[in-house]
Amino acid sequence: MAREKITVVGAGHVGGSVAQRLAEKNCYDIVLVDIVEGLPQGKALDLVQAGAVCGYDTEVIGTNTYKETADSAVVIITSGVARKPGMSRSELLETNSHIVRTVVQHVVRYSPDCILLVVSNPLDAMTHVAYRVSGFPKQRVVGMAGVLDSARFSAFIAQELHVSVQNVQAMVLGGHGDAMVPLVHHTTVAGRPIREWLPPARIEALIKRTREGGAEIVNLLKSGSAYYAPAASVVEMVEAILKDQKKVLPCAALCQGEYGIHDLFMGVPVRLGKQGVEEILEYALTAEEQAALSVSASGVRELCEEVDRLLQPG
Ligand code: 2OP
Repeated sequence: MAREKITVVGAGHVGGSVAQRLAEKNCYDIVLVDIVEGLPQGKALDLVQAGAVCGYDTEVIGTNTYKETADSAVVIITSGVARKPGMSRSELLETNSHIVRTVVQHVVRYSPDCILLVVSNPLDAMTHVAYRVSGFPKQRVVGMAGVLDSARFSAFIAQELHVSVQNVQAMVLGGHGDAMVPLVHHTTVAGRPIREWLPPARIEALIKRTREGGAEIVNLLKSGSAYYAPAASVVEMVEAILKDQKKVLPCAALCQGEYGIHDLFMGVPVRLGKQGVEEILEYALTAEEQAALSVSASGVRELCEEVDRLLQPG
């Protein structure tokens, strides 16, 4: 049986790391696309040669055009400019919405049946662009942010408690911005609620650090943003889809009434499988969490309205 094809658009740090992690799985073929001549070709060649050492036979093609992406099962969009220190994700809106629109137009021509997995920032608004431009059903457009934000929250909790991160179960919902909503009432460590492990002030401090988790790394790196954890998060979602795992993960999905949110992409718990977003799961939230989610939704809605104005024809 032929291997399923995965396209990664954008051969920067995130795209390159995603391609590497997927290549090492040794069960997909990868196409890496970028507008910069030589960059995707060079990274693809390097990854193929790494296979000789790591023992994978993954085909990795680097290209500046989209012909080679034809019939991809999943297309991951990482294109766009990254934040600089002091910048918010929303400051990338204008530049990245034009880039994502162009990318999606090319992608859907060659892979009309693919699932679009968006990584570009500001994440929720860029997922909205992909949905609008592709004309795909909502199940086949999804954004990666909640897995990353939850990973950060989990990592901070594990460090604080000196326990394995594998003991931590945490879920962060809402938009991928400062108003994201870690669900404290659903956070457990080895089955025990986080509030039995830590006093409220410490939990608050970890939530704050999670909200600022992307910026903390941008400030340290000075140029570019995080990519190891974002890439790992993308791969978890890709495998949930292609292996039809039905895994419940927080993802940006189109809400149509769930959590009282209408016609907006935002981070919610999703069952991910072969069909893409197979279901949005509605957790019981506290009044405080529900209010925080509404605040986050308002911020995302403003960005989406701005995007709609920017992308209006003429
Ligand atoms: C982050 O949170 C870049 O949005 C990405 O690190």
